[in-house]
Amino acid sequence: LRVDESKLTTEYFEQLSRESAELCCAIVPSSEERVRQEVAFRSVLEVARRAFPDASLHHFGSTALGFSLANAGDDFLGKGHTLLEIFVRILTHLKMKDMDLSISLGSNAYDAYTPAQLVEKLGIVMKNAGMRDVKMLTRARVPIVKIRDAITGIRCDIGFQSKLVLYNTRLLKAYSRIDPRFRELVFIVKYWSKQRNINEPYFGTLSSYCFVLMVIHFLQIRGVLPCLQQIAHDGQNVPNIAIDEANVYFCEDVDTLVSSGKWTCTNAETVGELVVAFFKYFSAEFPYVHGVASVRTGSVLSKEDKGWTKDRQQEMNRSVEDPFETTNNVGRPVDKETLFEVRGEFIRASKILCSAGGVGTGAAYEAIL
Ligand code: GTP
Ligand code: MG
Repeated sequence: LRVDESKLTTEYFEQLSRESAELCCAIVPSSEERVRQEVAFRSVLEVARRAFPDASLHHFGSTALGFSLANAGDDFLGKGHTLLEIFVRILTHLKMKDMDLSISLGSNAYDAYTPAQLVEKLGIVMKNAGMRDVKMLTRARVPIVKIRDAITGIRCDIGFQSKLVLYNTRLLKAYSRIDPRFRELVFIVKYWSKQRNINEPYFGTLSSYCFVLMVIHFLQIRGVLPCLQQIAHDGQNVPNIAIDEANVYFCEDVDTLVSSGKWTCTNAETVGELVVAFFKYFSAEFPYVHGVASVRTGSVLSKEDKGWTKDRQQEMNRSVEDPFETTNNVGRPVDKETLFEVRGEFIRASKILCSAGGVGTGAAYEAIL
């Protein structure tokens, strides 16, 4: 990959930053959307309790974080796109509004049913209660029920995940409160990955969760974000708070972290500069063959040290570590075939971003999407 970055001008980076801000404004969920999510949450809980009277319900993932991309779609109408393009984009936006919900039960329920049986039981009450498009994915890695809420039309993925998903949602939320550039970069990267069809773990590409971890890792390396799992409250030892054999400790009080001066950001790059650098990092700099991006340590770990085998043809697989479940390789869906697709999209975006700057064409993001 050869790109001549020396041609990239300050005006170009400013334009990219402006476009990022515009894109984010267009796609953040409105307050009306949040009210609808609340209504859907309550109706799911009410129905779930018909099957499991002691159920409690938790909201995690992008819609819980305010990272979901809603309400766009209309924006693209009339911008000279073909009907097919508009259709694909609207579908993409619909996909981005899914709520991730997790049910917890009293502990004996887990002995009485297998995960697939829990999902079946839940699916049946959801159908009987008039929820739309009920699908039971009993054979998925994490079995879930997919539904569309009858009143609000909101789609929900409901599972019986471990508590860890709630902790990693909180960790991402803490990072998003430290620096506003993180959230903007996440929007751009998620939006790009969905438009380019490389955000489908079921079809061998990466999950949004994986892309978000890649953004955090990049921003840690760049000095924009600290490593919250390595900062102790007392400035001494990092405590061990064990949940499901993982240490879920992280410094959650980010306001004090920043106000006390324990963390001072030394990176003053604009969002535009960070976007270009992000795509360059993951297309040309990151050591896929030997390295593992680790948000937990704020560094690149070696596959060898982690006991994760190296495989040139599987280089993306085993390249991103879960911050809590350190044995979980978040890039796992990618295989020999899809590797080229995913790497290819990073390289394509990086090339376009760099050459668009060189020739001074407008609408940089239009080009990578
Ligand atoms: P969209 O649904 O695409 O808008 O993005 P999202 O931010 O909701 O991400 P995604 O649906 O990929 O994941 C939702 C949540 O599930 C994440 O915030 C994590 O909490 C959890 N999650 C997803 N994949 C994994 C995984 O491989 N390991 C763990 N521990 N948690 C995961
Ligand atoms: Mg989700």
